[in-house]
Amino acid sequence: MTRPCTLHLSRIAGLAAAIVVLAGCGRPGVPKQETAASRNERAASPHLVVFAPPPLSEIPDDAFGAEVRHGEALFRNTLANAPQYVGNSLTCQSCHLDAGRLAGSAPMWAAWVSYPAYRSKDRRVDTFAARLQGCFRYSMNGKPPPLGSPVLVALEAYSYWMAKGAPTGALLAGARYPVLPRPAQGWNYARGKTVYEQHCALCHSPDGQGLLVDGKPWFPPVWGSRSYNWGAGMARLDLAAGFIKGNMPLGNGGSLTDQQAWDVAYYIDGHERPQDPRYLGSILATREAFHAGPFDTYGRSVDGRLLGAGTGTTGTTTGAHGKRATKPAGT
Ligand code: HEC
Ligand code: HEC
Repeated sequence: MTRPCTLHLSRIAGLAAAIVVLAGCGRPGVPKQETAASRNERAASPHLVVFAPPPLSEIPDDAFGAEVRHGEALFRNTLANAPQYVGNSLTCQSCHLDAGRLAGSAPMWAAWVSYPAYRSKDRRVDTFAARLQGCFRYSMNGKPPPLGSPVLVALEAYSYWMAKGAPTGALLAGARYPVLPRPAQGWNYARGKTVYEQHCALCHSPDGQGLLVDGKPWFPPVWGSRSYNWGAGMARLDLAAGFIKGNMPLGNGGSLTDQQAWDVAYYIDGHERPQDPRYLGSILATREAFHAGPFDTYGRSVDGRLLGAGTGTTGTTTGAHGKRATKPAGT
């Protein structure tokens, strides 16, 4: 059971600031229990292995433990700890909740035991480290840290430690995001806008720019120059819908219908964001090469706008309470 989330939001008149008081659902705290979706999944499949990561209190007090703690800090507060590799206002935890521990939120303990694996996106077998690099390049709109660099070593140590005792190669309950069946009614922008306004805008703001406090994403931006770029997994409707269904609204995952999750995913991914770093010089060519799939909105016309222009180098969205992007979008 997730507790209903009550939110009181009061803005200081005349200031581009907002005070948000969360009662009952605590931010940045995240429910520790698994999501409804992963519970269903676990109940449905006898082949899934149930696993829970160790508590943080069990991190050893030695040189290895120090590396694990470094990884956890990087995961929670990525920009402050790895500024040279981050190009937006997200953290790893923005999409892998509870610092990559929460089942149904692509947790790192399940990821660690799943690599190396073939990925059609890269058309090759990727290592875990290569997977981390991909999330920096696309989801964080930044630069991939070099293999063996302190940032990757720390994130690997953290993930490895969390997976202690998990069987390698087994399908763990709560791995990745929930997979939703394709929706009977397709997806629709106007319906998605309604879902967004009713269930998301309070935190992520009506203009999608969320809320930054001291440069940290209290509520992360879901589109625009400070969000994930067009090459990210979250820019694909199936992955976004699965993430949203299992994890959003924060503290109340599993409360939307599948249809609502698909519609609101389409609404979010129906907005402009930083250019795909694989950009080939034209939207059409880039769409053909990387976004030809049925779940891509890049290079499509949504609500009368052709998507894929990117957000330029200065940041086109400042947001109601946002700040200008400090780094050029795209690469
Ligand atoms: C904008 C959202 C977003 C952000 C931010 C993000 N990721 Fe991801 N990540 C994803 C998506 C989407 C997937 C694919 C999940 C799936 O396939 O079900 C993924 C997958 C992964 C995987 C592979 C998981 C698996 O089970 O195969 C790893 C490892 C990973 N991310 C690490 C990171 C790290 C480390 C960071 C921070 C540097 C990060 N991610 C930031 C969205 C994000
Ligand atoms: C109670 C506040 C709250 C509500 C309501 C909420 N979110 Fe979130 N959302 C968050 C927070 C906080 C995170 C980042 C998680 C973290 O840092 O622990 C997040 C992360 C996300 C992300 C991944 C990061 C990013 O910025 O792209 C997406 C996508 C998202 N939410 C979509 C939605 C959608 C769609 C809804 C409505 C169905 C919604 N959220 C409702 C607070 C909220």
